[in-house]
Amino acid sequence: MDSETSTSSTGAPSTGNTTDTGTTGTGHVTRKAVLRAALAAGMAAPAVLMGVPALARTLTDGTGAPALTPACDDGDDPTPPQTEGPYFKPNSPRRTSLVEPGTPGTRLSVSGWVFGRACRPIAGVLLDFWQADVNGAYDNTGFRFRGHQFTGADGAFRLDTIVPGLYPGRTRHIHVKVQAPGRPVLTTQLYFPGEPRNNTDPIFDARLLMSVRDAGGAKEAAFDFVLDVPQDPGPTPTPTPTQTSPGGTWAAGTAYRAGDAVTYAGRGYVCLQAHTAQPGWEPPSVPALWRAA
Ligand SMILES: [Fe+2]
Repeated sequence: MDSETSTSSTGAPSTGNTTDTGTTGTGHVTRKAVLRAALAAGMAAPAVLMGVPALARTLTDGTGAPALTPACDDGDDPTPPQTEGPYFKPNSPRRTSLVEPGTPGTRLSVSGWVFGRACRPIAGVLLDFWQADVNGAYDNTGFRFRGHQFTGADGAFRLDTIVPGLYPGRTRHIHVKVQAPGRPVLTTQLYFPGEPRNNTDPIFDARLLMSVRDAGGAKEAAFDFVLDVPQDPGPTPTPTPTQTSPGGTWAAGTAYRAGDAVTYAGRGYVCLQAHTAQPGWEPPSVPALWRAA
């Protein structure tokens, strides 16, 4: 019996959603830009989605009325907490990939950003993931499918793993602890759309659904965390390409194909998904479209 279903999280920040329909209007990475990127990559097309009702990157762009909150100007409340469950282990290895060449299971990447209450990305956030293997078993003696990492300077993260197996009493999920520097830990779980058990798992929360798409036999998932971290909501003098001409071969208006290489602000990037570049989709801003070379 899985005690994850018999306990509930308490004392954590008020729950919320990752719905985003707004924009900050400043030069920093906006969630609207993320949404645009996802749309450009085809994630909003019903044919490639698995049925996501409430995830940021699958919503239409700017056509819905944003549910503004006092502390966040683009409609994001903090990500809801969930129970830790019985299988967390401290001291996981620091690594962004939980797979090895022979690891069985469907390859899955999970990428996204960690934002604060003002919808600005947070650097140096600890993310500690743990999950079941392809057979639904946790490694409670070692550290298979356990690993922690930190968001980069742009507040982004990426986890390479497999689609976790099912085990009795639960729908498919990935556990994670998220902690901004000097802030409380958010313990929660991420879910997969289209899972039959989502309808029967008593702790399933649709606000924690990832967007998931097929990617040539693998899966690509996206989820953005919003932490209850106070932030200065004022404009930040973060340079944008139009303001600072960072240099490089990347150019708005160019139709890029997967595998294309560009440079931007002195760094090299490789295109992950075909799209036509637009302002706001600069490679550092949209890891859904570009990875560092
Ligand atoms: Fe679990």
